[in-house]
Amino acid sequence: MDTMELNNIQNKAIETVANLNNLQDLEAARVSLLGKNGQITQLLKQLGTLAPEDRKTFGQQVNKVKVEVTSALEKRKNKLEIEELNKKLASEAVDITLPATHKVIGKMHPVSYVMEEVASVLGKVGFNHAVGKEIETDFYNFTALNIPDDHPARQDHDTFYIKTKDDEERKVLRTQTSNVQIHTMEDNKPPLRIMSIGRVYRCDSDVTHTPQFHQVEGLALDTNLHFGHLKGTLQKFMTDYFERDVKIRMRPSYFPFVEPGTEVDIGCLFCNGEGCRICSNTGWLEVLGAGMVHRNVLKNCGVDSEKYQGFAFGAGIERLAMLKYGINDLRLFYESQEAFLNHFGKVPASVSAKL
Ligand code: DAH
Repeated sequence: MDTMELNNIQNKAIETVANLNNLQDLEAARVSLLGKNGQITQLLKQLGTLAPEDRKTFGQQVNKVKVEVTSALEKRKNKLEIEELNKKLASEAVDITLPATHKVIGKMHPVSYVMEEVASVLGKVGFNHAVGKEIETDFYNFTALNIPDDHPARQDHDTFYIKTKDDEERKVLRTQTSNVQIHTMEDNKPPLRIMSIGRVYRCDSDVTHTPQFHQVEGLALDTNLHFGHLKGTLQKFMTDYFERDVKIRMRPSYFPFVEPGTEVDIGCLFCNGEGCRICSNTGWLEVLGAGMVHRNVLKNCGVDSEKYQGFAFGAGIERLAMLKYGINDLRLFYESQEAFLNHFGKVPASVSAKL
């Protein structure tokens, strides 16, 4: 093979390499030129067959071709690599001017987390959950609670009655969680301390009433329980729930199922008792009803009223939520406005720990 032929091989190889447009083809070209059986490798292999005087010059020439082709391959490789990288960067480009995608995290409704807060506060002073029925017989919602048929207190509850057959006992959507007291005392032996938290219904809808709302009921039954235990329990309940020193005040009041009965106020949380719009300048906010369980109620449940005394209390969950979190309109709880839920909803601790 003469110099011209070698030059031709070199030029052709360099031209081919220059026209390759991707790294796979380039690699294939490298193999066909410089690989084990490549064209240039074959030429080098022929050296052994040449006469010693030809071997030197031919060897030098083939090596030169090898160096040139190797360098052409490398240059092309660098160029193609840069091109491919640029292409990749362009296709994966991130438009940092686009609005960010936010993780949408569901939040607990204030009514739900206030029910949990209340349960946790009362749970710490020994009250256990008791589950009640929402569709209740007239007996458990009223009669057993010392509210017989002709009792004027019935009129205070705008009751939803459920159609029943003529021979069936009248059923209602419970108007209060106090019905759970009766079931609890019927089914369990004292001493006992229960709380029941859940939905109640009244046929009433205006700025300060919704037809469905939530209450918490507490009941304790034991020997030697007195009004002081009730007051102490409520003081602790209020202080722990509102997470600050709150004053409480008990005013005599009437509920048919307790005697004596009391309405319980807390010192206004918004003006520290000085008087403001929210407490109607009284310095006090009404939060719950309570009292010592009426002996008629104990009797109705088969509890020996000579041996056992009980105290009970009931509060509205929405009212507790409004006072603690400064929510000023009851209707907001049920309108499902996203802005309200975003603002007043809470990410449960178990979820936020994972964020
Ligand atoms: N059930 C009453 C209501 O719905 C609240 C209540 C008052 C519950 C006094 C009680 C209580 O347990 O002792 O208005």
